[in-house]
Amino acid sequence: MSTLPNRVEHQLTDKGYVPVYTTAVVEQPWASYSETDHTTWATLFARQQDVLPQRASRTFLDNLARMAMHGDAIPKFDELNIALRKATGWELVGVEGLLPELTFFDHLANRRFPVTWWIRKPEQLDYLAEPDLFHDLFGHVPLLMEPVFADYMQAYGRGGVKAHGIGGDALANLTRLYWYTVEFGLIREPEGLRIYGSGIVSSKGESIHCLESQAPNRIGFDLRRIMRTRYRIDTFQKTYFVIDSFEQLIDATRPDFAPIYAELAMQDSIPAGDVLESDQVFNRGSGEGWAHDGDV
Ligand code: PHE
Ligand code: CO
Repeated sequence: MSTLPNRVEHQLTDKGYVPVYTTAVVEQPWASYSETDHTTWATLFARQQDVLPQRASRTFLDNLARMAMHGDAIPKFDELNIALRKATGWELVGVEGLLPELTFFDHLANRRFPVTWWIRKPEQLDYLAEPDLFHDLFGHVPLLMEPVFADYMQAYGRGGVKAHGIGGDALANLTRLYWYTVEFGLIREPEGLRIYGSGIVSSKGESIHCLESQAPNRIGFDLRRIMRTRYRIDTFQKTYFVIDSFEQLIDATRPDFAPIYAELAMQDSIPAGDVLESDQVFNRGSGEGWAHDGDV
């Protein structure tokens, strides 16, 4: 029987009731993983090994191979950390689950990536409402091996601390950027559109949907546009944004956001599925299957 996550309470936020956990860093209780837990990891890993070649970014796939995260058993954070520290100076720390924003930003700003130590149940292979070990580790960690992306993540953490201090909608604007890049980003590679977002690479269904379905919009990266765009937390995204390179991403996000937040405060948010005149459109979504409400 596994140790259970130390859930503190449920807290009502603008996203409904969300679980709040202890914010402390915890030792990965590796010996407590059950046979079922290891099998869940192995199943999810094998499914993505199947789906991701030709779909995930070269950079993601190369780094995944390079860090020797394998499908035999749940990896040990301590072992992954050896390669990670060497590659980019990042390290993984174990946590019980989603952290308060400022705690999360502080970790990133110091090149620590918080990883939820527990894994989903076998009946949750396709969907669960909060990040687990598979999402955090398989989804996020390979790109932390890549210097430019590793720097972007740290800059985001620093930007988060700053946005938190600014108040108003600054944090909402910044969170949308994270959502549409780190979690659900696409990248244009010589062979075509590829996935780099961790929310996609850790989901079999969305890995296929985001590239092959006609339903969603696929639109060129545009910082201010993204920071105004609402998103989905409980269905596939209605819109994906496409970068040309990680250099483009880090260059576009280098300027001071304070004046941008002030500018955006005077503009409306954009519904998740809208296409604008000014968009660089790779695919105009058919909108098939879209829920008509529920953008956050
Ligand atoms: N340049 C941003 C700011 O001044 C910081 C940032 C960098 C935010 C990268 C997100 C991503 O707030
Ligand atoms: Co994530």
